[in-house]
Amino acid sequence: MKKTLYSTAFLFAASLLGTSCNSSGTKATTTISKDSSNKKWWKEAVVYQIYPRSFKDSDGDGIGDLKGIISKLDYIKSLGVDAVWLNPIYSSPNDDNGYDVSDYQNIMEDFGTMEDFDALLKGMHERNIKLVMDIVVNHSSDEHEWFKQSRSSKTNPYRNYYHWWDAERGKPNYRYSLFDVNHDAWKYDSASNAYYLHYFSQKQPDLNWENPKLRQEIYSMMRFWADKGVDGFRLDAFGFAAKDTSFPAFPKGFEKNFMQYYAMGPHLHDYLKEMNQEVFSKYNVMTVAEGTGNTMEDAHGMVDEDRKELNMAYPFEWVDIARPEGYSILHLKQVFTKWDSAFADKGWMAVFLANHDQARMVSRFGNDKPAFRELSSKMLNTFILSMRGTPYCYLGDELGMSNAYFSAIEDYNDVATLNEYEHQKQTGGDLKKFMQHVAFTSRDNGRTPFQWDSAVHAGFTTGKPWLKTNPNYTMINAAAQEKEANSCLNYFRKMVKLRKDNPALVYGKYTLLDKDNPAVYAYTREHEGRKFLVLLNFTAKDANVKTGVDISKGKVLINNYGATVVSEILKPYEAVVIEL
Ligand code: BGC
Repeated sequence: MKKTLYSTAFLFAASLLGTSCNSSGTKATTTISKDSSNKKWWKEAVVYQIYPRSFKDSDGDGIGDLKGIISKLDYIKSLGVDAVWLNPIYSSPNDDNGYDVSDYQNIMEDFGTMEDFDALLKGMHERNIKLVMDIVVNHSSDEHEWFKQSRSSKTNPYRNYYHWWDAERGKPNYRYSLFDVNHDAWKYDSASNAYYLHYFSQKQPDLNWENPKLRQEIYSMMRFWADKGVDGFRLDAFGFAAKDTSFPAFPKGFEKNFMQYYAMGPHLHDYLKEMNQEVFSKYNVMTVAEGTGNTMEDAHGMVDEDRKELNMAYPFEWVDIARPEGYSILHLKQVFTKWDSAFADKGWMAVFLANHDQARMVSRFGNDKPAFRELSSKMLNTFILSMRGTPYCYLGDELGMSNAYFSAIEDYNDVATLNEYEHQKQTGGDLKKFMQHVAFTSRDNGRTPFQWDSAVHAGFTTGKPWLKTNPNYTMINAAAQEKEANSCLNYFRKMVKLRKDNPALVYGKYTLLDKDNPAVYAYTREHEGRKFLVLLNFTAKDANVKTGVDISKGKVLINNYGATVVSEILKPYEAVVIEL
């Protein structure tokens, strides 16, 4: 177990949530009705993800906050995006930076007040930007009142809000914890002589979704936010909410289908349908789940329209492809193509290459060396914004922000990284190797402060930032890029506009070209008589592509080298969209 999960344990669940749809689970639904012509705002939207802690600090405490976001609303609007997914902003002791909620209907002190939230929502709506809230309900914080009550005695009315195992029954069967120093998801609690379950850290006890009272509390909390006017919900780690609560021993080799055993239990769809009925159906909100389960059938089960559960989900299979040792472009193409074809006629997916749980997109999928950082960032943004599915763009990726590659453990903040370091230390692991690994993979790479300008701490804060600023901010920052017509930032804006102006890039049929080309990702998008060709060189060398079409007759709509005529020999990391 330890060995299988080692690479992902401290990386968070990229693999776990995502090993998910491996080839063994690709049975695409056959009885499908065409609903790709079914237009929806959330299919056409470009979503910008804000990790509030890292975006903009307004009061000099070194932590990004809601007023900081408010001060940058015009910037967000200028990107051309339609919606913002905000990572959790609720009261929290911040063991996992807000993913450990102690009060779902209050704002984290570091971030501001409910008045600030209302002003933020108003400011967004005035600019026609929608707001998607992060709903973290597989677990709460151990400092949530429910848990305090629950742990106080076996007879407390909140006891069944969580999963308890009485110690009189002996030790429960082993469960792996993603963020625990000992990898053990059962924590003994002497107050009631029992163990509680925590798939994530000890401070994130899992909520018991089998309890209808708990479920109603959650729905009412979600209605509270929907009544305020929020436009969507992202369900955090929700697959884990449905599990086998008899906690049986798992058979040998279960790791290969981790999600099947740890998550996606038989009641998952009951919960989602109930949530849909109790909340989503009453509002005009978009919904997205983190993770897609274990098979394509799982994924379809959550997002197909006739299921009346969610609008979309985001698969992890592709983010897991990029490894410190590199990755195969053929593999990347194969995985994206598999997902596209599975949802070509029914259902809808999110498209992304990075978020707050990943190291930086350009460092993983592109090339962050000075010669190629900008080109490859533009190329990757061209990719995300020209695929079918709703694109989710993570803050800073519009600037080509790159990994910080911290070398000292003291520089890290992420609970997953710190606790795994401790685990390695206690079990005699190779700490040097571990540090090399996390320098590339740690989630903190994606969480360093947003680089606004070349002032101290990148203009993020006047105080001491909660996480070190990437020193390259003097070169890579929004202010400098505003001034440069061909900057990453301005390219990103153009690419967003191109997508928004051309429904073919949203709804169009996707066809992979030159499938076996190991360097170039080439595809067409076709819709209502219009056809677009996308050519992306994923390498640092010139590369040939065979498209089978006369591209000289096409019109170049965007090119990251600024060329208006292109050939079938692409320059390093060249990206081009051509209308044929
Ligand atoms: C979030 C992570 C978080 C974990 C536990 C994930 O899905 O994206 O940031 O650590 O859930 O809540």
